[in-house]
Amino acid sequence: MQTVALSPRPERLSVAPMMDWTDSHCRVFHRLLAPGARLYTEMVHAQAVIHGDRDRLLGFDDSEHPVALQLGGSDPGHLAQATAIAAEWGYDEVNLNVGCPSDRVQAGRFGACLMKEPALVADCIAAMRTVAKVPVTVKCRLGVDELEDYDRFRAFVDEVAATGCDTFFVHARKAWLQGLSPKENREIPPLRYDWVYRLKRERADLWIGINGSVDGVDAVRAHLAHCDGAMIGRAAYHDPYVLHRMDAALSGAVLRSREELLRAFRPYVEAQLQRGIALKHMTRHVLGLYHGQPGGRGFRQILSEGAHRPGADWSLVERALAATRPAALSPAA
Ligand SMILES: Cc1cc2nc3c(=O)[nH]c(=O)nc-3n(C[C@H](O)[C@H](O)[C@H](O)COP(=O)(O)O)c2cc1C
Repeated sequence: MQTVALSPRPERLSVAPMMDWTDSHCRVFHRLLAPGARLYTEMVHAQAVIHGDRDRLLGFDDSEHPVALQLGGSDPGHLAQATAIAAEWGYDEVNLNVGCPSDRVQAGRFGACLMKEPALVADCIAAMRTVAKVPVTVKCRLGVDELEDYDRFRAFVDEVAATGCDTFFVHARKAWLQGLSPKENREIPPLRYDWVYRLKRERADLWIGINGSVDGVDAVRAHLAHCDGAMIGRAAYHDPYVLHRMDAALSGAVLRSREELLRAFRPYVEAQLQRGIALKHMTRHVLGLYHGQPGGRGFRQILSEGAHRPGADWSLVERALAATRPAALSPAA
């Protein structure tokens, strides 16, 4: 049997980078739900890391570890500089975005359009690796536009892997660079999980994580029979309890109740309120916690209507929780 030496990476579950969603408050909440998962930041452009407000762009809470910074960019020198800064800030990994198809990103020649330029991606990764004290990884698509060919996809991975990068997350669809919005590009190009499974079979020495519409415990288990990891995006955000179920299923931990998990978020929320951060910035990430549950709509409504009001505090969360209890749901209530 072939011996496979993969980089030490115990987490098989991770939460995908999502712009405007996976900010630090969100990641602290996700950490409570999924103690065993690796968490990814929103994408930050390398130039922003170099020239921007680092406290705002890079700050994170200690509880978030293991946490990876996702970078956007295509200039090897800038990416290397940003990687060194990320390592200084304590990130556990730096991930390069080769999957985002937005117009803005294409105009900057980064994201998914880099699928067409494997040599440039390899230069970027090589430059990042020379300075990195942390693993450098790639998140990519299967291809872009008419370039929909398994051999070409594997050749992309091979060229980048030749730099020594051994960890790839693959969003198992291609992206159309023209004509589809980023949202449509997450839905319309068909999923081809089999390409990712085949890549893992043919490149057993690489750590391959699969991404794209993985939405429940059974799906995670099925993918992990073929790949090293599963990366969860929208399902984790819209229905956070699913993330908790996935994590518990993998670790064997006993499920905690939604209410218990939310209460575990309280010390963090109150510390942020003390610092002058408005409640809405934290509670917007918990709106889906009672998704599909009795009282779930009331829970969501109370939080979304009240959290932006001046002075809103934890008592609002208690009111929202009360809306999910049997007394609030019975016709007599
Ligand atoms: C709101 C939103 C923002 C996203 N932002 C990023 C991003 O910054 N970087 C990235 O690589 N992917 C981004 N994605 C794509 C996700 O990481 C993921 O690849 C995609 O949603 C497919 O996974 P899912 O089906 O589990 O959601 C974003 C997705 C969403 C929904």
